[in-house]
Amino acid sequence: MPKLVVVYLSTSGNTKAMADAIVDGAVSRNIDAVAMNFHEAKIEDLKSADAIALGSSTFYYKMLPPMEKFIDSLSKANAKGKFGAAFGSYGWSGEAPGMIAEKMREIGMTVIDPVLRIQYQPTDKDLEECKRLGKDIANKMKKSG
Ligand SMILES: Cc1cc2nc3c(=O)[nH]c(=O)nc-3n(C[C@H](O)[C@H](O)[C@H](O)COP(=O)(O)O)c2cc1C
Repeated sequence: MPKLVVVYLSTSGNTKAMADAIVDGAVSRNIDAVAMNFHEAKIEDLKSADAIALGSSTFYYKMLPPMEKFIDSLSKANAKGKFGAAFGSYGWSGEAPGMIAEKMREIGMTVIDPVLRIQYQPTDKDLEECKRLGKDIANKMKKSG
């Protein structure tokens, strides 16, 4: 079964809610998907993944520094050529998801659209959008598998 690993950094749970909904969407398409906080994620989890979704909220016009460090470690996890997705909650400027996507492209990952940004706490409609992204990731993995 193709595997999706979703790693998030979330200070008050907004980006985490997005991560959980992305996993729900992927699981509904029979993908082995799991969400984990960035400090729980091990390089082995990433190595065995076929797709990696990364989420961070925006703080001071960028992603949170631990997520930046985490992405740098991705290049050691054979991420090149894998599918990637970027997402995050934001308040007013929302740079983090775009920056994550950019870093993923630099590593050589194939970034799936849309780069998903939700303002503050996701509504039910926002969570549906997150689920849709999870389903889209699943469909892409199945097609390429
Ligand atoms: C100290 C601080 C700085 C912030 N800086 C930004 C910012 O530069 N741009 C932005 O869009 N949102 C900013 N935000 C808003 C957060 O991104 C927003 O509250 C988000 O929903 C938090 O999601 P999380 O619970 O997943 O961390 C900031 C929030 C705080 C508390």
